[in-house]
Amino acid sequence: RKPPSRRGSMADVPEDLKSQIKRLEELFTVPQEKLKEVTDHFISELAKGLSVDGGSIPMNATWCMNYPDGHETGTFIALDMGGTNLRVCEITLPEEKGEFDIIQSKYRMPEELKTGSAEELWEYIADCLQQFVEYHHEGEELDQLPLGFTFSYPATQEYIDHGVLQRWTKGFDIDGVEGKDVVPPFEAALKEKGVPIKLTALVNDTTGTLIASAYTDTMMKIGCIFGTGCNAAYMEHCGDIPKLAHLNLPKDALMAINCEWGAFDNEHKVLPRTQYDIVIDKESPRPGQQAFEKMIAGLYLGEIFRLVVLDLHKSNECSLFKDQDVSQLEKPYSLDAGFLAAIEEDPFENLSETHDMFKKKINIDATRPELELCRRLAELIGTRAARLSACGVAAIAKKKNLGECHVGADGSVFNKYPHFKARGAQALREILDWPEKTKRSEKDPIEILPAEDGSGVGAALIAALTMQRVQKGEN
Ligand code: GLC
Repeated sequence: RKPPSRRGSMADVPEDLKSQIKRLEELFTVPQEKLKEVTDHFISELAKGLSVDGGSIPMNATWCMNYPDGHETGTFIALDMGGTNLRVCEITLPEEKGEFDIIQSKYRMPEELKTGSAEELWEYIADCLQQFVEYHHEGEELDQLPLGFTFSYPATQEYIDHGVLQRWTKGFDIDGVEGKDVVPPFEAALKEKGVPIKLTALVNDTTGTLIASAYTDTMMKIGCIFGTGCNAAYMEHCGDIPKLAHLNLPKDALMAINCEWGAFDNEHKVLPRTQYDIVIDKESPRPGQQAFEKMIAGLYLGEIFRLVVLDLHKSNECSLFKDQDVSQLEKPYSLDAGFLAAIEEDPFENLSETHDMFKKKINIDATRPELELCRRLAELIGTRAARLSACGVAAIAKKKNLGECHVGADGSVFNKYPHFKARGAQALREILDWPEKTKRSEKDPIEILPAEDGSGVGAALIAALTMQRVQKGEN
């Protein structure tokens, strides 16, 4: 096989690969009209989720009922149970708005835990918290430390310090947790070990992101995560939440809503799903769920790529990776979003890093034309993700009439995937029909900006806001 040549143009790409590239472009490109159609449907689904009957997007009330005003104080523990890490922070909020004092430790989240038993999960988390407290407060007499627990899964909350897991997402599959309040077994595990921590607020990562961002920038109106999963939160007026009407909350009171928009279009009405998206869904632990998330979140981007490439290899019409041993490529989820990001970062003129990565990671010695196809495919998958996720942002902005505002975003895809921000911004312009910018320095009316640390600072702020509310005897 030829080593990748340093030069090369589409002209050198064999006809069969060229026609596959064209086919993939048609399959994965989401044109402006489609973006608008998705956004319009999104707006109606946001409303449905808030209605008494509900819809497919949960639109969970979070009981986070205020933006921070800068007077939040105190010391809090923040726990973030992510997919790869468990992060524990101790955060001291200053008397006057300013720098936070943060100490933090990271613990590995063993892969087996995600599909193990509930007892193992809670015990492991309690162990980490215990280690944290023992390490940072050795020998001290401690009162109960208040905890903001960032639990980034859909939960039904009647109070902020409780949450019934609706369903696992992002590949978690632990029996006996769905449909139950996660707080009692968690607190029982803490009690058993004598860890001096009391859960004050159960927080979604999107709500944490919204609140942490709004602390430093009052133009922040939406908090988004574009990471392993994808989701957003924003503030709604209680009077506009029909499903909470029975609680007689003041109509103008605020309530942060965790949209759980990953579940958008679970009934497959508008999203331009491909045969590959259908396979991802079918093979996942929760088929039929998180339709939107499965097309855009980091957990799935590499897998979409793998499925396409493998399909092309097996097709009679295409010579991709002919005579190569694809056994490593056959392994589900063997490629992650970082792999696609690296392909996109490699200069097109060269693609030598991509070549080496294919060799190292999946033992495939790819030719220059094959690498070009893979590069285009990565671009298509990454661009589709960014453009579709902009539909969610646009839908909230339209629903809430947010003319000018900031959106705080966090997550590995947002922070690390090349061009994700620019592609999302471009899609927003197309959906919301903003006039072309005349100067580069000109700002869009709605900007998606890197957020403050939501699962640390955000969780602590929400815990502080909760304690203020409790002291005032509200709700
Ligand atoms: C998944 C979870 C959601 C979370 C998002 C980002 O969609 O269901 O709760 O906010 O991932 O982590």
